[in-house]
Amino acid sequence: MKTIRFREGQIEEAARLLLDNELVAIPTETVYGLGANGLSEEAVSKIYKAKGRPSDNPLILHVPHKDYVDNLVATISPLEDKLMDAFWPGPLTITFPKSEMVPSIVTGGLNRVALRCPDHELCRRFLEVVGVPVAAPSANISGRPSPTTVEAVLHDMEGRIGGILDGGTCDIGVESTVVECSNDSITILRPGGITREMLLTICDTVEYDKALLHEDEQPKAPGMKYTHYAPNGTMVTIVGEPPRIAQYLTEEFSKIFPSYNEDEASQRVALIVSEETLEVLEFLAKFDEEFSERLSKVHSIVYGTCGDMKALAHTLYGALLECNELGITHIYAEGCATEGLGVAIMNRMSKASSGCIINV
Ligand code: TXA
Ligand code: MG
Repeated sequence: MKTIRFREGQIEEAARLLLDNELVAIPTETVYGLGANGLSEEAVSKIYKAKGRPSDNPLILHVPHKDYVDNLVATISPLEDKLMDAFWPGPLTITFPKSEMVPSIVTGGLNRVALRCPDHELCRRFLEVVGVPVAAPSANISGRPSPTTVEAVLHDMEGRIGGILDGGTCDIGVESTVVECSNDSITILRPGGITREMLLTICDTVEYDKALLHEDEQPKAPGMKYTHYAPNGTMVTIVGEPPRIAQYLTEEFSKIFPSYNEDEASQRVALIVSEETLEVLEFLAKFDEEFSERLSKVHSIVYGTCGDMKALAHTLYGALLECNELGITHIYAEGCATEGLGVAIMNRMSKASSGCIINV
């Protein structure tokens, strides 16, 4: 199958393909989604096949506006209503008791359905034209980093899907926050673009699903139990002030490049760091020829200034995919504080580095 790349003026063509029950990748403000007609069992089954996704992992249905929710849910509580008013369109996914209309293949057999209204102009226009809810997981092969560009989608999905709607680079870069409401409290099943602090402006009780804090608990969002975002190389996430991170890296480099003048180094090392950390590294290199030689062999990706969480979220998945392209064997990535958007970022970085987080 040839994958057609649809431009902004070709929404109608893209919509027709989706309504023919083919897969069409769609841009959103978080990451690209792998879209299918959410009311068709046949179309949705193609998503699981294209991604290699376990069938017990439910999908999010995307709608262009709050008004499209009524037919898909059995009830809407006052708190759920308030959340939609406050954060839609935006990176918040809410799970509701599902209506009969939603095929059980979408919800992986669960009796709740996850709904989201993306804050992406082109995506919402597309959703309006198709007129059906669009089931869409992130448009990567299961387990790999989520795509934030057309190129990254095509790398995984070229030939496996009917088309892609080109909406440029995704702004936020990490997936939506998934929540479930009960009475007067909100449980965060997956941290994302809408932070706990933002949810606290609407509701006094906002907790994280226990499984996000304790590994032995069963997560309420089935997807959270799978390995995710794994780059091909091994990754270490380092958290601390730039000088301490730089110090840690000098020690690591001397372990992984034992003989710096060896031409045929089998290790390919990458850094994903802040401007400040790279500056300290370059400063140290001025006084240490051996370290300078080692640093010159490393592929450096700078996400922005230290602690700029938006920049880190925006850069992270693209950086991991770049490391795959370059055949990197060791990734050292600078993490951030676990607060605000940092909760979502550190959740993804922890998974990408199989829990290897070093506080320096
Ligand atoms: O930002 C996003 O949410 C992106 C864009 C494309 O919208 N989508 C996305 O989908 O990340 P996906 O399938 O990669 O992740 C959906 C998450 C999974 O962890 C899944 O288990 C959870 O949401 N989920 C979906 N339906 C659910 C339900 N009914 N109850 C609990 N968790 C649910
Ligand atoms: Mg995903």
